[in-house]
Amino acid sequence: MSYVSNVTQSNEAWLNNEKTFIVLGQFQDEPVSVQADAISAQLNAALKLGDFKGKTGENRTFYLGGKTIVVTGLGKKDKFDADAARKAAGQACRIAISRKVNNIAIECFGGEEYSQAIGEGVTLGSYQFLDYKTKKKDTFELSSVTVLGGEKDDIQKGATIGSSVCFSRDLGNHPGNTSTPTHLANVAQSIAKEGNMSITVFEREEFTEMGMGGLAGVAQGTDEPPKFIILEYYGAEDKDEKPKVLVGKGLTFDAGGISIKPGASMDEMKYDMCGSATVLGVMHAIASLKPKINVVMIVPSTENLLGAKAYKPGDILTAYNGKTIEVLNTDAEGRLILADGLSYASKHYDPEFILDFATLTGAILFALGHEATGVMGTNNALMDQVKASSKNTGEKVWGFPLWPEYCKQIKSDIADVKNMGAPRQAGSIAAGAFLKEFVGKDIPWIHFDIAGTAWGGKPTSIDPKGSATGWGVRLVLDLLNV
Ligand code: BES
Ligand code: ZN
Ligand code: ZN
Repeated sequence: MSYVSNVTQSNEAWLNNEKTFIVLGQFQDEPVSVQADAISAQLNAALKLGDFKGKTGENRTFYLGGKTIVVTGLGKKDKFDADAARKAAGQACRIAISRKVNNIAIECFGGEEYSQAIGEGVTLGSYQFLDYKTKKKDTFELSSVTVLGGEKDDIQKGATIGSSVCFSRDLGNHPGNTSTPTHLANVAQSIAKEGNMSITVFEREEFTEMGMGGLAGVAQGTDEPPKFIILEYYGAEDKDEKPKVLVGKGLTFDAGGISIKPGASMDEMKYDMCGSATVLGVMHAIASLKPKINVVMIVPSTENLLGAKAYKPGDILTAYNGKTIEVLNTDAEGRLILADGLSYASKHYDPEFILDFATLTGAILFALGHEATGVMGTNNALMDQVKASSKNTGEKVWGFPLWPEYCKQIKSDIADVKNMGAPRQAGSIAAGAFLKEFVGKDIPWIHFDIAGTAWGGKPTSIDPKGSATGWGVRLVLDLLNV
């Protein structure tokens, strides 16, 4: 994992700060804001000529008294928000990395109110996945960032949250032969230690015995030990306060099972544990920030492979809540392991609400591409909170309906439900409708289909090219008021 971990704050003016590489901001169509005559005059001339306009993503380099000053465009002032501040901070780090500069100072773009976003932006923008590069010349890492101005505590909080997103990205980026269910359990163990949480891991024999037929069924085809992982964090003053429960799909490689996937791009199915990476990322942040809330995380985790012991189309499985499931396609396995996760959460925790995160359907990519996560659930007030947090963090969501017409589509002729809806129709909603069968009555619940957003999007200054994004960690932390 690589991201800048040394993030500090200083109230010095940039001219006095010891760092020799400084990034300052300039709004579009606003008077020059850089405080240094030698630069202001040149910047003014460039603005007048239209050589530099202050548009988002534009940069201009100046040199003064041994310092290199990059002026970066912040766009129109009235459009500037936390997302723009985050991206400008990310951009500053990308510039430093591309020029092989180790230590930089940046302005707290937009002012004090954006301190947290700036802290997030520097960690997210400096993220690189270099673990498998063996030649030093192929890598360059940023060592330190000083933020000039802003609120120290908020900047640190932003850096901690950003580092948890980077942690989540790493889990997703590691290949299936590293990021195994055992690896996820080990990672959960170290989070538990750091955050004073309790951890329970059920092994294959235990969860099979307990009646988790969904996870047991999917895991039949692999020798890699599957796990059912639970982290419990009780930080609220009232330990009896209902916990908020987060469930994540931890499918560490999805070959599709007997209903095997086509070979092209099958490697991308290493990202099929990104739901677990989201909820582990949230718990990672909670372990450091120690908020006064109760949170439980549940990750059912296995591979979905094919072999002599693998489960088959037509098999009927019994989930933890006793419902029977007809398996019509072994590639619709995520909903089977989540069925046990959601049933377990509903039975054992009297949750205030349940949120689940899963790279669940290819159909969500057809609907929304890599731009937004599909959300659906049973509670409008909770959905409103999700949408408000989505606005705050810039992680886009789009709602889908779970109308009775759709819910009927997953009824089976011979079992209670089947693991597919109508072929080639509303596939993401069918998956959501299936999951609803395993959420306890009256428990507010929202399902996040992150198959498009968890990886592979267009790069931005805070999102890496084509790889795991850590989607949702920031949104959930905002929703939990961490
Ligand atoms: N892991 C996949 C969904 C997926 C597809 C994630 C593309 C990321 C990118 C999931 O397990 C799956 O295979 N779903 C099937 C369901 C179908 C058989 C009903 C799908 O979407 O094709
Ligand atoms: Zn699948
Ligand atoms: Zn899958």
